[in-house]
Amino acid sequence: MENIILVSALIPVSIKEENGEYKAKVSPGGLITTLSQSIKGKSVKWFGWYGSEKYSKHIENIIVEEGKKKGFNLFPVHLTKEEIQYFFNLFSNGVIWPLFHSFTQYCRFNKDYWHFYKKVNEKFAQKILKHIDKDTVLWVHDYQFFLLPEYIKKKNKNVKINFFLHIPFPSPEIFLKLPWRKEIIDGFLNFDFAGFHTQIDKENFINCVKYFYDVKEERSNYFTDLYIENKKIRLAAIPISIDFKFYDTKANEKETVEIFKNLKERYKDKYLIVSIDRIDYTKGLVEKLNGYRRFLEKYPEYREKVILMISTAPNVKKLPEYEKLEKEFHHKIAEINGSLGTEIWRPVLFINKRLSINELIAYYRAADISLITPIKDGLNIVCKEYSASNIDLNGSVILSEFAGASTEIGDFVYLINPYDIENIADTIKKVIEEKQEVKKEKMKKLRKHINEFDIYWWSKTYFKIAEGEKIDKFPKIYNRYPLHEIM
Ligand code: F6P
Repeated sequence: MENIILVSALIPVSIKEENGEYKAKVSPGGLITTLSQSIKGKSVKWFGWYGSEKYSKHIENIIVEEGKKKGFNLFPVHLTKEEIQYFFNLFSNGVIWPLFHSFTQYCRFNKDYWHFYKKVNEKFAQKILKHIDKDTVLWVHDYQFFLLPEYIKKKNKNVKINFFLHIPFPSPEIFLKLPWRKEIIDGFLNFDFAGFHTQIDKENFINCVKYFYDVKEERSNYFTDLYIENKKIRLAAIPISIDFKFYDTKANEKETVEIFKNLKERYKDKYLIVSIDRIDYTKGLVEKLNGYRRFLEKYPEYREKVILMISTAPNVKKLPEYEKLEKEFHHKIAEINGSLGTEIWRPVLFINKRLSINELIAYYRAADISLITPIKDGLNIVCKEYSASNIDLNGSVILSEFAGASTEIGDFVYLINPYDIENIADTIKKVIEEKQEVKKEKMKKLRKHINEFDIYWWSKTYFKIAEGEKIDKFPKIYNRYPLHEIM
């Protein structure tokens, strides 16, 4: 096996200062979860930032040692306070993230932020170049590193650089608003292989490239090769997955079962809806609450019979729109509980902390519905985690059409348009009232699919496509968003 260097903005171990001491903790986010699972058993050097502006040899040692305990070979990259602010917060999370999720109103197109994006990409390149041997393959992740391959290839044009984009790629109407659109495309075209979650993202990228270059395309079943001037890049849509067996086994672990039984007892006369999200405007949190509220207004017979349990993970994005959203979200929960709740019932149970893995899986196992409503999401792994934990086949997934996952598992879930609160309300009712056999059948198919196309399938197939090897199996994926059935 080659020598793989993985690059992502954050490594799986972060540092937090508590009472003058540095403590290692797990970095948040779906990307970290999936990548950590995907490299199990592989020899990988993992480069990335560790969530703090502080740096010392002592801090580096804590991270490296903690990494070793968890089976990772970590190479922490230090970012200064300015780099964190301009590269991480203001450009990556304040321009690319909103633009690529179609929230152009939040984009701050400022050339100083762009300057830092370039600077930090170059900084990573300098650090990584020292570790590249003749058999090294680079595996770069996500929107923080579009320029990295250009800086690497300027110094070492032979190294193979694979990429995976975890967020959507926007259509030209949106992408072309970016003042540095050509530089981003030019940087990107230095990857040898780039994977996307969906066909939609892949085609959007191709359409954006065509605004700048004459492109020759060669299409096969699983990938598209683009030839542009003297460059060739291979592209594929290959939706990421999870470690199915991990969730499936953990759902039956003693500690999980205890929590699960308590939940079942506590909510024995209620339908439990679960919502696990990061606080982000892309996740449709307000839309979810509006839909749930509408459900309780429109179908009052379900009052006191349903609980929506919401748990939110801590947010690493330090921008005003996040603070505003958090306030609005908390306010909405209080408003629903205050106006619709009764002496014996709170419609929304809000847990504002990261659940332990056993708690999380117990909630997944106990909940009748997982309500997932992003306005836009690269993929969304909550739907996969929920199904893998749903070992009794008693749950159903309600999923936004605009989560990339809908193009892969749309046939096994209940789809909704998150902008349509009537549709959310009606779908909750429909799922509650649906025949148990119908729901079980959907969940069975969903679990079979995720088991078959799990994270190990994903990483193996990703590298096979990159290397041009034969693919054994591939899921059927839609090349457009599937829409919910008209009720
Ligand atoms: O690729 C993993 C993933 O979690 C996707 O499911 C998601 O769309 C993207 O990365 C962004 O991550 P998140 O919104 O979970 O932080």
